[in-house]
Parts: sequence; structure tokens; C-alpha cells
Amino acid sequence: MAYFSKDSVHVWFVVTLITAHVTLGDGNKNTVDQSSKKQHWGIEPGDTATAFRVPTLDGEFSYSPGALQGALIIHAFTHKAGFLECMWNNDSSLSALVRELPESTHVLFLSLDDSAVDDALWMRRQVYQAATQHGREEVMSRLHFSPLPVFTLGNWIPAVLNNWGCTRHKCGLAQAAFTSEGWKMPLIVKRLDARYDWLDRWDHGSYHLVDAGEGCEPSDGVAGRVAWVSDGNCSFFTKVQSMAKSNASGVLVWAQDGHPLQDMNCQGEECSTKLPDIRASMVHREVSVAQALGLGQAVNVSIQNTPSPRLFIAINQQGALSEMGGFLYPSFSFLNWQAQWFEFSERLRAKLLAPAQVVPVFDKAVMHGHKGAVATVEITPDMLLSDTLELDASLSCPGRRDESCAHWDHTVQLMVCCDPLSPYCNMELGRWITPFRRGIGRWLTDVSPLTPLLAVGHCTFTMKHPWWAMPWVVSLNLRFSTHRTVTGDGREQSFPFWVMPLYGGRVFDKNYNTGRQPIEIPVPDSTKKVLLYAVITAHGSDDHSCGEFCITSHTFPINGINNSLVFGDAGSPLGCTMRVKEGAVPNEYGTWLYGRGGWCDGLQVQPWITDVTGQLDLSGQLSNRVLYYGLFEGRDPNPTKDPGYIIMSSFLVFYR
Ligand SMILES: *[C@@H]1O[C@H](CO)[C@@H](O)[C@H](O)[C@H]1NC(C)=O
Ligand SMILES: *[C@@H]1O[C@H](CO)[C@@H](O)[C@H](O)[C@H]1NC(C)=O
Ligand SMILES: *[C@@H]1O[C@H](CO)[C@@H](O)[C@H](O)[C@H]1NC(C)=O
Ligand SMILES: *[C@@H]1O[C@H](CO)[C@@H](O)[C@H](O)[C@H]1NC(C)=O
Ligand SMILES: *[C@@H]1O[C@H](CO)[C@@H](O)[C@H](O)[C@H]1NC(C)=O
Repeated sequence: MAYFSKDSVHVWFVVTLITAHVTLGDGNKNTVDQSSKKQHWGIEPGDTATAFRVPTLDGEFSYSPGALQGALIIHAFTHKAGFLECMWNNDSSLSALVRELPESTHVLFLSLDDSAVDDALWMRRQVYQAATQHGREEVMSRLHFSPLPVFTLGNWIPAVLNNWGCTRHKCGLAQAAFTSEGWKMPLIVKRLDARYDWLDRWDHGSYHLVDAGEGCEPSDGVAGRVAWVSDGNCSFFTKVQSMAKSNASGVLVWAQDGHPLQDMNCQGEECSTKLPDIRASMVHREVSVAQALGLGQAVNVSIQNTPSPRLFIAINQQGALSEMGGFLYPSFSFLNWQAQWFEFSERLRAKLLAPAQVVPVFDKAVMHGHKGAVATVEITPDMLLSDTLELDASLSCPGRRDESCAHWDHTVQLMVCCDPLSPYCNMELGRWITPFRRGIGRWLTDVSPLTPLLAVGHCTFTMKHPWWAMPWVVSLNLRFSTHRTVTGDGREQSFPFWVMPLYGGRVFDKNYNTGRQPIEIPVPDSTKKVLLYAVITAHGSDDHSCGEFCITSHTFPINGINNSLVFGDAGSPLGCTMRVKEGAVPNEYGTWLYGRGGWCDGLQVQPWITDVTGQLDLSGQLSNRVLYYGLFEGRDPNPTKDPGYIIMSSFLVFYR
């Protein structure tokens, strides 16, 4: 029968879309016009950047693979983005760029606009001013400003900027569209939303706009509408709060003439006041809008985001094109963090070149579902004679772009079982936390004290995150190496020979410490050294934001001596940015910045290792005991709602 029902048309469309998607996702399989496709459209993160030259204010910037010591970041500026306007005018943003840009990193500044000559001069002036202010003039030699608009470059850069375009919130162009009965066309202006972690996001749809003056006091007539409010005379917080009290749906704060858009945020105490459902953005004062409102004409506003080319890309030290992740608020700090990560990744690459016996466990295995990723490998006696065991783990995504990555941060655990009958079977050998939607993480974790969990023969490794979470692609190598130096005094090197499991985690409520018994430690003969080894992470969100964002302490008293680990950074606004240098994945698409209870998004959980030999009686004459308790701000937790939980593996490791 030759007719289409509505359904079959629908199916046909779906099939076409899927096919189109597959074709786009795998450019190499397309044989049509292979060369031009590769040159112009097939460039993806990880591909090698080819040489190019770009005229600059100082002459020419010339890139050839391998010529730069460090990474190159390419930024395309446009006046059409409120986000960039703020980033380029904000003192703390510019000072971050001149003070904290890693020594090895170069930045090429371009403009997408016709005004590229003026833009290049202006960008250089902005940076130079900040550089002189901070005595950092030398940074200018690593910053390159091109007066040619991007569309005239004649190389691959425009193709990558376009092809990796920004469609996401915080990346495309944020705009407000005003309409009024007398106008033929909507009036569309750039906007900058209030800080991501302060206020909600706008809903799409059209709102009535109402002039509310300075907005420092509640006012009538704004309920259910968007308040048009001037900047100044009181804080952004006061404006938003008084408009919220007046039941406004949103607030548009207009900048005073000649002033740039600002990053609207709460300050100090203000941030702990919960505002009701309201959103706010900053825009420039539009004369027509002000006039129409002044004349009592109805004006509507709707909120929109228009896709744009990608505004930041990079070439890493190895010459591979790289994404820069998401910038959560307008600051060059995000550029620095990505650059710090490039440096970390280069140091890691060098470390991985050091001699070691490498045992591949997972090579791009999919970790998903109840099973996770599972592999069995053979452990040989020589491996167990080495004194160092490191886990070289990485998490990547199904596609080549970060947008294909799993969205949420979850705990990943690596379990090992070498003998199903052994009490060591399926003990935890390593732990990581997944990043929000970025596929660049790779981490090296020294787990040498846990070598006794391995045994000669076939060992099964299982790497898992919650079964319902989106899949990750995991790679894992075990690295066995020997670093001991022969000491002249004839003392023998000590080896871990026995691991004694201690306590595990549980729900972090008022019973967290109830019923835990001290454990008697049977110190084996010929023990030379004992380490306390613990991997502890705090999760969940009770009324005190415990355990993810509250300060918890974890104490193992051994014969009356306290061994304590305190998560003092938990909840600090920039805690995890400090750990980018250690490999925390920067610029994730989520709140990766905050310090957390023993972990960061996109990072391994570093084992906490303490030498407790001196706390024990090794002679076998006295009994030795260990206990554990965990506290919230020095006392037992006592949440009134949704208690959090602690995930913990803890051991004593005996060396001889
Ligand atoms: C203006 O907004 C109101 C309320 O949000 C809506 O009902 C109305 O249709 C809008 N008018 C126009 C012209 O978009
Ligand atoms: C601030 O208040 C002063 C005095 O009340 C007024 O003259 C000025 O216009 C106000 N500024 C703004 C930006 O609303
Ligand atoms: C805001 O809404 C609340 C609850 O609906 C109402 O009690 C209050 O009168 C409203 N205030 C204004 C200024 O409209
Ligand atoms: C500049 O940026 C800092 C940090 O992002 C922010 O706290 C501050 O409010 C910004 N200032 C302006 C004027 O936008
Ligand atoms: C160990 O900590 C507990 C409370 O956390 C304290 O009461 C005790 O005095 C401490 N012991 C030592 C030896 O510091």
C-alpha cells in the first residue's frame, strides 16, 4: 500500500535524524570529498592542529606543532556576548589573567566582529593596564592580539570555532528580546545572568516589563512581571530581594550609561538568605524601552539564547586540539584553570614515561549498569616484588566532545578479587569521583600499601559507579615499579605483607558512632612498620549540607593517640579549584569549584596514609587497640532531615 500514515512519516524522520547524527559523529567514514571535509569540518578534539600564521599587533603569531613549550589558548572575542563584556572589564578577572596564567601558556586573542582592529587594541590595553598594576608586564610577551576578524583568517581556526559552536547555557549568546505594540521589530540586547549559584534560571516565555525605579524598596504593580530596575544606590541583593517581596517574576537591572555589565552576585551574609523563585539579569539601558515605559506603553520581554561560535579553544603541549570546558561566571580564572590542567597533564605524561611494568586492565572499556567494567588479568610473582603500585586511570566519553559525557558526579570504586575464598576478595583498591560532563580526566594514584590485596594468579578487577548512571569509558593500567635504594647500612627494605581491614562508612546520622567497638590489633612477629591507610569520602546533603559540603573529622585513636583527618575545605567556594594542579578536571559543567568532604569532582580520592608504628607496642607484650569515630564540627552528627553518608575503606598495613 502506497500511503503514509502520520506515524510512518514520523518514523521516517526519526530514522533520518539518527542517520544524520551518526554521519556527523564519524566524519572519517565519509568518503565524499574527504580532503576538504577533513580540512574544514572534520576537526575534533584530540586531532592535531596544523601550522598557521596570524598577523598580530606586534607582527605575526606563527604556530607550528612542537614549537611552543606550553599550551596555546585561542579566545574569540565578540561584543555580542554580555558574558565577555563583563569578563573583559572586571578587575579581578583581568588581574587573574595577568597574575595566574601559567608560565608556559600562550594566548591568542581574536575578534569575531568587524571591529577587530579596535578590539585587538582595546583588549591589549585592558590586559596591559592590569599587567602594569600588578607588576606583571612580562606576561605580555605570551599574549598575542590579532587585528584580523576571524572570518578573514583563511585557516582552520574559524571552522573549529564554528563547528564546535556554543549552544549551551553560558556559552551561546544570552539575550533579552523586548517587544511593544508600536514597534515593527523586537529589540534584542545582550544580557548577563546573575551568578549561577545565586539565582534560578529564566523560563522561556514572554513577561510584562514594569519600571520599578531603583528597586531598592518593594513596589506595587510588579507581581508576576519583570521589574526594570536601575543599577546603583543599593546592592543587587537588595534589589532582587525587594522585587521578590513584591512577587516579581524577574528583575532586569540596567547598567548606568558608560558602565559595563556586571556579574550580579550576593555578598557575605546576603548569600545565606534564601530568595524565593526569582531570576535576574543585567542589560544595558535601551532608550526605546525606557521611553516606552515612560509613556506608559506596554513592553514585553522574553529571554533567549542564540548559539554562537565557540569562544575558547586550545592546543595542548602535544599539539592536540582541546576543548576548554564551561566558564561558570565571567572570569579569566577559568582560562587559567584549564591552562593549569594542561600543565598537570604534561607532568603526568612525563611521569608515565618512567620505567614500570605496566599491566593493562581496561582499555576503553564501557563502565555501565550493575556489572560495571570487569577484567581478569594475570599477576606474576615479579610484580609483587616491586615496591610501588600505582593506578593509572582515565575516564573518557562515548564521543569525542565533552557534550557526549555523563552529566553527573558519581563515586567510582575499583574492587579486586584474586581468590574468591580470601577475606580480601573485592576489597577496594581505588576510588575516583566522575566529573560533570568532561572527558579529559587521567590520574595516577599510589596505592603501594595495598599490594597485599593482590596475589599471584588471576585477579579480577571491577570498576563501578551507580548502575543507573550514564556510562563512562574507562582505561586502567597497573604500574609496578621499584624505587628502593640499597642502603649502605645493610638494613633491609620493608615490604607490606599483611593488610588488616578496620572500619567502613555508613549513614551519617546521630547513630554514626553508636556501637562501634575497638579492634584488638594482633601485631605479627617481625613487624617493622605499620601504616594507617584510609580512603574516606563524605556525601549527601542534610540540613547542615553534610556530608558533601560540611566539615567532618575522622579519627582513629590508636592506644589513646588520635589520628585525625579533617575535611576543612568542604563547602569553601573555590576549594576544588586549588586541586586542578593535582589533576582535578577544571571547567566542568556543574558546580565543580566548591571544596567537598574528602573529594573533588573529576579527581581520584587520595588515600590518607599515616605511619603509626610509634603508637604501637611491637614487642607483643601489651595489647594494641584501634577505634574510629566521625564527627560533624567536633560532635556527633544530628541531622533533622535527609542524613548524608560516609564511604570508607580503612586498613592497617603491616610491613616487615
Ligand atoms: C506579553 O506578556 C504577557 C504576559 O506574560 C502575555 O500574556 C502576552 O501575550 C505578551 N504579549 C506579547 C505581545 O507578547
Ligand atoms: C540614587 O539616589 C539619589 C538620591 O535619592 C538619586 O538622585 C539618584 O538618581 C539615584 N540613583 C539611581 C541610579 O537610581
Ligand atoms: C505577594 O504574594 C503573597 C502571597 O501570594 C501575598 O500575600 C502578597 O500580598 C503579595 N505581595 C504583593 C506586593 O503583591
Ligand atoms: C568581578 O568579578 C568578581 C569575581 O568573579 C566578582 O566577585 C565581582 O562582583 C565582579 N565585579 C564586577 C564589577 O562585575
Ligand atoms: C582525642 O580526641 C578526643 C575528642 O575528639 C579528645 O577528647 C581527646 O582528649 C583526644 N586525645 C588526645 C590524646 O589528644
